[in-house]
Amino acid sequence: MAVIKMIVSSVLIASFIGISTAEQSEVPIGLFDSQADVFALPNGEIPEVPIDEGNGEEDENAFILSTSKPLGQVAGLGIDSTGNLIAFHRADREWNEDTFTKDFKLNKALGVIPNATIAVIDPNNGKVSAEFGENLFYLPHGLTIDHEDNVWVTDVGSHQVHKLDKNFKPVMSFGEKMMPGSDEKHFCKPTDVAVAKNGHFFVADGYCNSRVLKFDSKGNLIDIIGSEMDPFIIPHSLSLIEDLNLLCVADRENERVQCFSAGLKEGHRSIPAGIPITSADNIGRVFAIRERKHFLVGVTGSDAEEAVESQVFVIDIESGKAQTFLKGIENGHAIAISPEGTLFVAQINPNQIVSMNLN
Ligand SMILES: *[C@@H]1O[C@H](CO)[C@@H](O)[C@H](O)[C@H]1NC(C)=O
Repeated sequence: MAVIKMIVSSVLIASFIGISTAEQSEVPIGLFDSQADVFALPNGEIPEVPIDEGNGEEDENAFILSTSKPLGQVAGLGIDSTGNLIAFHRADREWNEDTFTKDFKLNKALGVIPNATIAVIDPNNGKVSAEFGENLFYLPHGLTIDHEDNVWVTDVGSHQVHKLDKNFKPVMSFGEKMMPGSDEKHFCKPTDVAVAKNGHFFVADGYCNSRVLKFDSKGNLIDIIGSEMDPFIIPHSLSLIEDLNLLCVADRENERVQCFSAGLKEGHRSIPAGIPITSADNIGRVFAIRERKHFLVGVTGSDAEEAVESQVFVIDIESGKAQTFLKGIENGHAIAISPEGTLFVAQINPNQIVSMNLN
């Protein structure tokens, strides 16, 4: 396997700034206590802070995982409870300026993708052991595997969210097929899903609606997350940190991650869903976030205008400290983290999956 040469520069990129709104929250103190750690300089520059890992400059830990058969653009990525990597890809379809009409509808010339769009991959050797999702999807986007191994996917082409069971059989669909909209029964190019253990789920919606919606397990809308005063611009990825009652949103074009109360705890000490708890600002265009052990890992794309390089970053949710883990992975679109701490990043152009050890 090819070793990708990348510089581990470890720059502190941002700090979480706690917003002390919820007196009675059960969120750890660290989240509200990080006001003192603001690393941006007054001129807006982010200082370079060398770290003392002393492990050389090139990360020999990052590999391209070559799959045993070619996949299309991998837009979504997850790991199931048996350790398989599940990729949601676009087969031969690509998103270009002719894909949608001006009113967000999929170009009528584009039918359903006939090929398989879901690949089950052995993360150790890249072997594709099974494929699913033929004749179901129009433009695959996000994939999330819940605690029961149900597979939740979003299709920006059909404007729908689908729940598949662990055998990849569709069991529920949300949103009206091919019909974009902004009421509680419609989505418009939804990007990602996060699922709580009680079955409630969150949908990032998406490219045209600046909102994140919370539903009960049957798909009834129960909350809307996000501020009308300070709206999201393409909420692109969600990560639910359930034991902290936090829903984090990768607010892509605002170049930030915002975390809100998820409203999942019961009883008088709970705080309602949607209260802003903390955020990391000016971190670049965040395409994907996922959490492991209270570390939020994310991938950003480059921003030529602002001369920001793409990077993999890690935020310690409890301390609020953020740092660059790795630079040089272009166009990362989706990530998944194994329980052992292997991070997989799916890039779109070049179309490949990169794996690296987070530990
Ligand atoms: C999709 O299916 C067509 C027809 O069988 C095939 O030619 C093409 O290579 C497939 N694409 C991918 C990415 O597997």
